[in-house]
Amino acid sequence: MKATAIASPNIALIKYWGKADDKLNIPLNNSISMTLNELKTTTTVEFSDKYSKDSLILNKKEATDLERVQRILNEVRRIAKIKESAKVVSENNFPTGAGLASSSSGFSALALAASKAAGLDLSKKELSILARMGSGSACRSVYGGFVEWIADKTSDGSYATQLAKPDYWDVRMLVAIIKEEEKEVSSTAGHALAKNNPFLETRLKIVDKYLKDVRNGIKEKDFTKVGKAAEFDCISMHATMMTSVPMLLYWTTGTVRIIHAINKWRNEGLETYFTIDAGPNVKVLCKPKDSKEVQKRLMEIKGVKNVIENKPGEDARIVESHLF
Ligand code: PMV
Repeated sequence: MKATAIASPNIALIKYWGKADDKLNIPLNNSISMTLNELKTTTTVEFSDKYSKDSLILNKKEATDLERVQRILNEVRRIAKIKESAKVVSENNFPTGAGLASSSSGFSALALAASKAAGLDLSKKELSILARMGSGSACRSVYGGFVEWIADKTSDGSYATQLAKPDYWDVRMLVAIIKEEEKEVSSTAGHALAKNNPFLETRLKIVDKYLKDVRNGIKEKDFTKVGKAAEFDCISMHATMMTSVPMLLYWTTGTVRIIHAINKWRNEGLETYFTIDAGPNVKVLCKPKDSKEVQKRLMEIKGVKNVIENKPGEDARIVESHLF
């Protein structure tokens, strides 16, 4: 009753911000993402009666807060009709909790490894719903390539579908790392702050147009259409964050430096767009032919520690070698 899965984080081009249901992670709007190929979470789960309680070792450290992990383990035990406790060991090849979407790959890998370890063979839709219970964005990491998460009002209707496979369209997402430490305000706390914000209402009124642009832009491989819509949507989400009470400001000086640089490069003819999640790090969309030049320029910006180039990544998958 042991299985290991690998999943990659996804970065939303149209963001999920604000929940219709806090416990079930049902979003207020559809979102669209790209799965990254270079960043990965590997997770091994074993259910056994030799364990007296569930445990989690994340990046070689014993974790104390198992609440979200147990939502998935409990759901798997309920479906598989088993009672055994689980040992979970999980490792990321990138910084955890720093706005690099580690929860999306983490809970997607956990859902796949735990369900396999319990002897279940869930469909992608069922896996997506299960992963969503740990972290909303995790439902999108079940798939590679480009993915849309349907909001819906019910738990059974709120899951991700694949818009395009990884090899359909080669665009690059450069992850510019400014800060590797864990963020002070988690996205869970952030989503809750969005609730009473009048700016969220405006964002939700206009988001459909941008969803359509990104959906069509991916289909037509129209880099400008996708980039413009994604950048606008990112700003619209951060405007909502900044107008929360108390204010939620994830940007640092380094973030703003990159935003200015991208604007300048674009005005000079180097077409790039930015997107930012619940943290200061910036993800930069560019065409494959410009990737080396953009990486070089990003590394020259003060405060940028590292740049990781990503292509569209693969689906979450089972692997044979275990972490313990
Ligand atoms: O899945 P969560 O609860 O970590 O929320 C993700 C929120 C954003 O990353 C900011 C946006 C998104 O759609 O991924």
